[in-house]
Amino acid sequence: MIGTENTAVAEALVKEYRRGAETVRALDGVSFEIRHGEMLAIVGPSGAGKSTLLHLLGCMDTPTSGQLTINGRSTSGLADRELTRMRRELVGFVFQHFALLPTLTVAENVALPGLFARRRAQKHADELLERVGLSHRRTHRPHELSGGEMQRVAIARALINSPKLLLADEPTGNLDTASGESILSLFRALNSEGLTVVLVTHNEALAKATNRIITLSDGKLVSDLRRSE
Ligand SMILES: Nc1ncnc2c1ncn2[C@@H]1O[C@H](COP(=O)(O)OP(=O)(O)OP(=O)(O)O)[C@@H](O)[C@H]1O
Ligand SMILES: [Mg+2]
Repeated sequence: MIGTENTAVAEALVKEYRRGAETVRALDGVSFEIRHGEMLAIVGPSGAGKSTLLHLLGCMDTPTSGQLTINGRSTSGLADRELTRMRRELVGFVFQHFALLPTLTVAENVALPGLFARRRAQKHADELLERVGLSHRRTHRPHELSGGEMQRVAIARALINSPKLLLADEPTGNLDTASGESILSLFRALNSEGLTVVLVTHNEALAKATNRIITLSDGKLVSDLRRSE
């Protein structure tokens, strides 16, 4: 169910990067709200600012100007330590290249970001591995898995701290069609259980499977289409 509460509110977000003497404006006054329980896709051409926006939503960086509030807490002007704490408490992040640690087992990878005492994190990791259908792989190393399985491990890891917001940047970019579909159905299932999900994707099927598509171009929000239920 899509609630009336907001998970994220962006107001006139601007993000500039310094590159030598040059300043790149990656986001140029972007405003929108994400309601609790939504599943939305961010699309747009390369360089449009999609990953930049996802990094801001993921509390990995702060805006140059404008306001971004996640779960009622503003990220603007936060010191690194406070931003890190917000990131751990509120968001789970899934990367295109999975970013699993090769020397750890599947279960250890999932438990790694756990805020809990070690044993509790491992128990929760086992529950999450069951949730993503990979209990039988818990003692394997990442190189023994298929791409789709690695991405499911990465999703389980992103869920270990029970985030309010699950963010994924091109989560099917390195996967074949069948694995991509299994990742999509996992996101849909998590969303139907109430998790707010934001995906950056070039994959049309993935974008169309969401309730809402935000299009960025040149750092600006050029369309925001909600599918009527
Ligand atoms: N760390 C950085 N330093 C300098 N410029 C950056 C940095 N990150 C992104 N940019 C620039 O900001 C703009 C937006 O980049 P961003 O990565 O957000 O685009 P994107 O929409 O995710 O593109 P893609 O589809 O290729 O992943 C680009 O011009 C990019 O070169
Ligand atoms: Mg990108």
